[in-house]
Amino acid sequence: MSRSPSPRRPAIIAALCAVALSLTGLTGAAPPPEPSSTAAPPYQDPSLPVADRVDDLLSRMSLDDKIGQMTQIEKDALVPQSDLATYRIGSVLSGGDSTVSPNNARTWADTYDSLQRTALGTPLGIPMIYGIDAVHGHNAVRGATVFPHNIGLGATRDPALVQRIGRAVAEEVAGTGIDWSFAPCLCVVRNDRWGRTYESFGEKPELPTSMATFVTGMQGGTLGADPASVLATAKHYLGDGGTTGGVDQGDTELSEAELRAVHLPPFQEAVRRGVGSVMLSYSSWNGVKSHAHKYLVTDVLKGELGFTGFVVSDWAAIDQLDGRSGFTAAEITTAVNAGVDMVMVPHDYKKFLSLLRGEVSAGRISMARVDDANRRILTKKFRLGLFERPLTDRSFTSQVGSAEHRALAREAVRASQVLLKNDGGVLPLAKNAKLFVAGKSADDIGNQSGGWTVGWQGRSGPVTEGTTILQGIRATVTDPSRVTYDRYGNGIDGSYTAAVAVVGETPYAEGRGDRPGSMGLDQEDLQTLARLKASGVPVVVVLVSGRPLDIADRLPDWKALLAAWLPGTEGNGVSDVLFGDHAPTGKLPVTWMRSASQQPINDGDGKTPLFPYGHGLSYDTAPDPEPDPTPTPEPQACTAQFRLASSWSGGYQAEVTVKNTGTGPLTGWSVEWDLDGSAVTNLWNGTLSVAQGRATVRNTAHNGALSPGATTSFGFTANGTAGAPAPQCTGS
Ligand code: GLC
Repeated sequence: MSRSPSPRRPAIIAALCAVALSLTGLTGAAPPPEPSSTAAPPYQDPSLPVADRVDDLLSRMSLDDKIGQMTQIEKDALVPQSDLATYRIGSVLSGGDSTVSPNNARTWADTYDSLQRTALGTPLGIPMIYGIDAVHGHNAVRGATVFPHNIGLGATRDPALVQRIGRAVAEEVAGTGIDWSFAPCLCVVRNDRWGRTYESFGEKPELPTSMATFVTGMQGGTLGADPASVLATAKHYLGDGGTTGGVDQGDTELSEAELRAVHLPPFQEAVRRGVGSVMLSYSSWNGVKSHAHKYLVTDVLKGELGFTGFVVSDWAAIDQLDGRSGFTAAEITTAVNAGVDMVMVPHDYKKFLSLLRGEVSAGRISMARVDDANRRILTKKFRLGLFERPLTDRSFTSQVGSAEHRALAREAVRASQVLLKNDGGVLPLAKNAKLFVAGKSADDIGNQSGGWTVGWQGRSGPVTEGTTILQGIRATVTDPSRVTYDRYGNGIDGSYTAAVAVVGETPYAEGRGDRPGSMGLDQEDLQTLARLKASGVPVVVVLVSGRPLDIADRLPDWKALLAAWLPGTEGNGVSDVLFGDHAPTGKLPVTWMRSASQQPINDGDGKTPLFPYGHGLSYDTAPDPEPDPTPTPEPQACTAQFRLASSWSGGYQAEVTVKNTGTGPLTGWSVEWDLDGSAVTNLWNGTLSVAQGRATVRNTAHNGALSPGATTSFGFTANGTAGAPAPQCTGS
């Protein structure tokens, strides 16, 4: 993180702080640095290896220092601000509705710097780290660039674009001083009823996995090496998008193999890319809360995947562990011992610190666990450069909402548009056409931005600066006077070339967006569309929504349908496509249901959708060829490549890559090999059977379909020695 150098702080001030704190009996501290010593202690020496700096700092920290580092609180809960230093709190966040006044970049930066100066006032001067949900831009800040939500970015199929967006968001976040974003959500949405569907890049693990490039964009190739490096967060671990019924914070009822096959790959990729933090999910796996799941958090994430960053809990998530409101010492112990390194309390920090101190003192949380958590947290603070440059680098503040970033966002909006229907080539529209525009989301930047926009739930109306879809249309046509707008469609007649109806969902976030019942259009939209239909004018529907909607029975009335998703502040990216300045290239990131009763519906599950995963037309799309009535069966060939991942005395872990080497698609595969005396103890991404010392692994429901040249893999652990198996693959 690029920061301006912190003001020099003579040793005497540090000593006075130490005396003040010791009088409050809060320290019980290791002795503060000798006031007379002039040499800076090793942890303050940036030329030393980070591990050495961490070791030195840890050796100087009291228990209060250490439990403070494991504590994250909401900015607005910090009263008085001096408690940040008094209680040695290591992290502050702004939750969805936490803001500053006036809400602009400079005020955010001033607020950040004021808090940081308070944090630096402790004897050890450990900087705090500030987190915020910059999930589709620096969306808490009025005037910031708001990019398309993840579902739209998934439709682009462009990981490099998403990386560029990560970088742009990091610059705007850095420009307000903030060091850490709770993004990207790497959730794999499996049921579109889920209120967080739009936070997912898509329903098949390889799509969110490919978009983990956002981590690299936000952090840079090496954390802290880049002037605007911001700590990223892979969230929510594990299986948040797979709950039964799409219930937010519900229960993901899957076998371990399915959980690993569907929900783990994006986190594996984020860890490979060096993601600095992982946020746990409120949801459960087969009835056990993720925040209490030591196997998933410590054994799999930190052990098997080798995650070396720190794990943060979700907002007041540990309060849910015993099913009763508020948090208890037992819940704190369960979560920390499961592997949570930092607790997003976020309010009652005095109670939290008192309970945590008690649990450590009683030995129910070991000092080894406390030190491990601190080591993970401090390592990221050192690598971010917070000790050398703790305050805002104001050179990035002007990047907030910059023309350059808005141009990038407009590019992303264009690339995210998915053309689902275009009868008679009604699109692209002519720029000299006489157009009637209607719909509640045609001129509403709040609706087109969705949730997490200048407020947790977002809201309709002029919530921030940007360009509405209507403004984009008017800026594109040759004569704006030939564009008529009425939200409800009143006044339309047969004289218009076409009607453009911009309809869909109003903003929501998290559980408030769950749709257990109808997934159709609301009454206002239906009445507006009825008025347009009655005029006899061709109707082009632009759907502004966080998910597919149940519109099959309305589709015959529409000449064209464009899924715009939640485009954010640059609505002109939609008009770029409507008028053909850019042909649509987007592909569905999720299967589009024929009816809500089909939910969950996903690629490869055998159900017949209205539009399949990957569907998307363009303007040069020749009409879909008639399917070959008697397609000639292609030779189904595949290979299986064995790779020893790791071995230890008495056992080993391996991965087998399956490749479709035929010229036609595979719908399934099986792989066989001789175990040579070893015994498989655990397997994921496949289904195992063993007979006469020979193992057979078949595909799961999610990785059976392979197009020519495509690959997938399964992994397993086994007792014994690996030998040199030559697995045989059979395709179907
Ligand atoms: C929320 C969300 C999480 C977010 C956190 C902090 O409840 O589940 O995605 O990062 O709280 O705002």
